[in-house]
Amino acid sequence: MNGVQASWARLIAERELRGVLPRRWDHSKGVAERAVDLAWVLGDDAALLASAAVLHDVGYAPRLAETGFHPLDSARFLRDVHGADDRLVRLVANHSFALLEAEERGLREVLEAEFPLLENSLLVDALVYCDMTTTPDGERTTAESRLAEIRGRYGVGSVVERFIRRAAPEILAAVGMIEARLAAQPR
Ligand SMILES: [Fe+2]
Repeated sequence: MNGVQASWARLIAERELRGVLPRRWDHSKGVAERAVDLAWVLGDDAALLASAAVLHDVGYAPRLAETGFHPLDSARFLRDVHGADDRLVRLVANHSFALLEAEERGLREVLEAEFPLLENSLLVDALVYCDMTTTPDGERTTAESRLAEIRGRYGVGSVVERFIRRAAPEILAAVGMIEARLAAQPR
């Protein structure tokens, strides 16, 4: 992917989210800003990460919410309506350990069959980092605060809260790995 595709991704996300879900759009823009910070770490895949970052939540748009499981709705929309790049679609489908949430929803087999997880764990972890260090309003935060915010928002025992409790160690490990890469960046 290149810069042109990243601009296309931003236009698509803006069109679907800005008017109907302005806060979700603010979050998506913030996640995309974190991706810019990681461009050096990602090298040739920087534009792919930027595209996935801005599009990762597009399936929350009411008109796209077919299953109600937003990673799957996002990925199907990008694949079926826009014929998007296979790696972009698979990255979005699996963002922030979506497989674990899919399991809570009985959708794990569906997600795995349609959108296998990318083997490039750096890209996968980078998207976890971008999403989990950005507040719902698009501000920068820590992964610990973000996890606490999600738990509080969805409520104990809900599908999302159960998922986030299970995924927390992996989320923190992924974020820690990316932070270590950022700390090693030459200045
Ligand atoms: Fe997100």
